Amino acid sequence: MSTADPLRLGEPDAGELLTLQLAAYVQEARAHRNVDLVPLLDTLEDVRAALRDPALLAWGIRDSGRLVASVRARVRGEIGEVGRLVVAPDQQRRGLGRSLMLAVEVLLPPEVTTLLLFTGQHSAGPLALYASLGYTETHRTPEAGYELVHLEKARPRSTPVNAVR
Ligand SMILES: CC(C)(COP(=O)(O)OP(=O)(O)OC[C@H]1O[C@@H](n2cnc3c(N)ncnc32)[C@H](O)[C@@H]1OP(=O)(O)O)[C@@H](O)C(=O)NCCC(=O)NCCS
Repeated sequence: MSTADPLRLGEPDAGELLTLQLAAYVQEARAHRNVDLVPLLDTLEDVRAALRDPALLAWGIRDSGRLVASVRARVRGEIGEVGRLVVAPDQQRRGLGRSLMLAVEVLLPPEVTTLLLFTGQHSAGPLALYASLGYTETHRTPEAGYELVHLEKARPRSTPVNAVR
């Protein structure tokens, strides 16, 4: 069965999620000439701990049982910090990343009014995706030889549920 409906991920998904994350972030490591990107340094226990954390919500998309995409968000009051958006390399450019980002806007708790995220300055794909979703740059911070681009979006007040499909 193939479905684009995001499912909540939990601790039992940690192994699959780590594998997906490592595969997806290799392209970012190449783009930034940095193999020590934080998502590439995560251990299985780091991912398990994240999936156990009640303040951190993680969703995934499965295709015939296989985990092919994921995103997570940390809720801090009215702020939702979105991160670790990953799509399996062989499943990219099929709309999964956009679909998950739209799903986050619907699925976050109602108190969240502002969405924050960041990406590397050489992340052409993510920057294009986030701009097309209405995220705007707020500032940049230095990283090892490049900059992190910080982006923000006001959460739409009422996103139709079918927009995430
Ligand atoms: C970024 C990522 C999640 C996008 O997922 P995806 O499913 O391929 O994205 P979508 O198919 O939904 O693409 C939506 C739009 O994003 C932009 N985009 C995505 N990948 C792109 C790329 N490689 N180059 C240029 N634009 C890209 C395009 O505007 C695209 O729309 P289009 O296909 O109609 O032109 C995926 O490439 C990925 O996992 N990358 C590695 C991990 C990563 O960088 N995560 C984000 C860190 S902040």
